[in-house]
Amino acid sequence: MFPTERPRRLRRTAALRHLVAETSLTPDDLVAPLFVGEGLDEPRPISSLPGHVQHTLTSLHDEVRALRDVGVKGVILFGVPVHKDDRGTGAYDPSGIVQIALRSLRDEFGDDVVLMADLCLDEYITHGHCGVLDHHGNVDNDATLELYARAAIVQADAGAAIVAPSGMMDGQVGAIRAALDGEGFVETVVLAYAAKFASSLYGPFREAVRVEILGGGDRRGYQQDWRNRREALREARADVSEGADIVMVKPAMTYLDVVADLRRELDVPVSAYHVSGEYAMVKAAGERGWIDATAVAIEQLTAVRRAGADFVLTYFAHEVAEVLAG
Ligand code: PBG
Repeated sequence: MFPTERPRRLRRTAALRHLVAETSLTPDDLVAPLFVGEGLDEPRPISSLPGHVQHTLTSLHDEVRALRDVGVKGVILFGVPVHKDDRGTGAYDPSGIVQIALRSLRDEFGDDVVLMADLCLDEYITHGHCGVLDHHGNVDNDATLELYARAAIVQADAGAAIVAPSGMMDGQVGAIRAALDGEGFVETVVLAYAAKFASSLYGPFREAVRVEILGGGDRRGYQQDWRNRREALREARADVSEGADIVMVKPAMTYLDVVADLRRELDVPVSAYHVSGEYAMVKAAGERGWIDATAVAIEQLTAVRRAGADFVLTYFAHEVAEVLAG
């Protein structure tokens, strides 16, 4: 008996496989997260994110130029300030490190590179939470919104084409949209970290930005419970109704069901953040020779696209784009 179904026919040559491929991954689909340190004389390596550094302004420009030259046209900035305080002032100070970097990058790159700014307080606040604390030591949602609104205006003014609130406060998108519109920044895009889970995969990032959450505390009081799938849709729908232009799922690999849900249920672009822990795991196994790290990275990022994401934030952006660009 001969098989009647012969899917292998379409796998015979590379040209045939390309012809019928359902998903693509190109440098256009990638956004590079970059760290910029205040007061650095030279770039500072981040040990748990091999290949990544806290940039000086000069090395930041060099990196954005190199990314653009391999076709990566989106970057998202995170700041590492010299001083932190209990109000996270550096996040909304016009001369905070990210604002300085944005202005400088805008001057060189104009509209050729999409400049994004992560909008949160944790890198700038002594206790490491994403918002200010009330008298009981809890994160005060509504008091935090006022500071997010200020940060959005300052970032937009400094040159951010996209602001990306990552603190998971209720109403953050609405507060930011209203503040931006009120100051005439009607063109500034809001990319909402809509479904951001209280994951254990953010460890290397916290080393990168030197954030330690007070008392070993965690973010489960505001980030999402990773047992919940429907709730992610509820969060994302709320963000869209408040004016989010793009929604994001974070982390990526363990939440592909959520990416697929958002793609199916919403009309806005969907993105995903392949986070620091996801990068570190692949890199570490690669360094031991246990896997081919770049090949695994391409497989994972393609899977995120297959699940429905339009673009992916990833620490692999540079090296993967180099391979894709051939
Ligand atoms: C908050 C923020 C975090 C990340 C992006 N924005 C850290 C957190 O929620 O603890 C993590 C990104 C990563 O792990 O790559 N400002």
